Amino acid sequence: MLSDNFFKYFWEERPILLKGLLSPEKLFPITKGEFFKLCVSPILVRAYQRVENEDTGSALSTIIDDYGLIKPFYESALEFKQPITLLLNNVEKVSKKLLDLRDSFNVKRSWRYDDIVLTLSNVNSGIGFHAGHEDGFICQMKGKRIWNVYEPSTLSPSYIRSVLGSKEEIVSQLKRPKEDPILSVILEPGDVLYLPPLYGHEGITLEESISASIAWRGITPGFILTKLGVKYLNLSVVKDNRKDFFKIYSERELAFAKIHEELIQVYHDRFNLDLKSKFISEKLGKIIETF
Ligand SMILES: [Fe+2]
Repeated sequence: MLSDNFFKYFWEERPILLKGLLSPEKLFPITKGEFFKLCVSPILVRAYQRVENEDTGSALSTIIDDYGLIKPFYESALEFKQPITLLLNNVEKVSKKLLDLRDSFNVKRSWRYDDIVLTLSNVNSGIGFHAGHEDGFICQMKGKRIWNVYEPSTLSPSYIRSVLGSKEEIVSQLKRPKEDPILSVILEPGDVLYLPPLYGHEGITLEESISASIAWRGITPGFILTKLGVKYLNLSVVKDNRKDFFKIYSERELAFAKIHEELIQVYHDRFNLDLKSKFISEKLGKIIETF
């Protein structure tokens, strides 16, 4: 579905609107009724209410843990014209169709899979301005949404470190940047917006919308260490190399030798462990095998 040129010029590099990428068969226009049927365990359901006061481009959010309340809640938001977005996490666990949609992108790199997110939103709603560490595709299935995309340079260094896993600086509230967006597009059914890591973005619904976000996580040495089960790793101990530690490595940079070398350095410097241990080598090998 994605061209070689996409991977050469855009993947991990630049955002792009892929107009009409999804054919009607791939779209399986999902109805509101089907959306509510997907609200079952283990799906996490969150509701966002867009607010536009001194914190421009922000939203209030809450978890709805009583699945029976979701449909009436959304219907009353429609009735009272409250700008509400319902956001479901982990939808791949209950929808084979969404798994097939992810496969159809043919990106592979399954070791970087993030959860699939589905949203239902009414007019004028949004979840606010934000950025992520992942390479993501926003797939419009029903209705219309306008998306504004901003350069990574509009984010503060502390927000970037927070997005990339630093526990030291949690920055959750963000304002929409004063700079102009580098991309402003309206997504219609079948359109896909590709966003590389750290490109800030904000979507606002123009016509009642259903969309799916399919993403590949950004990888940092911190992520690999977590995968290896290094639960006791205290991220604050890597202060000296913090900039590098939270950097997202591209596919090209993530060669086995480099990662291995860096992990050895971190272990060696910080924990003085026996780095030649078979256990670590085997686990690393398994991760690298799936590259
Ligand atoms: Fe996003």
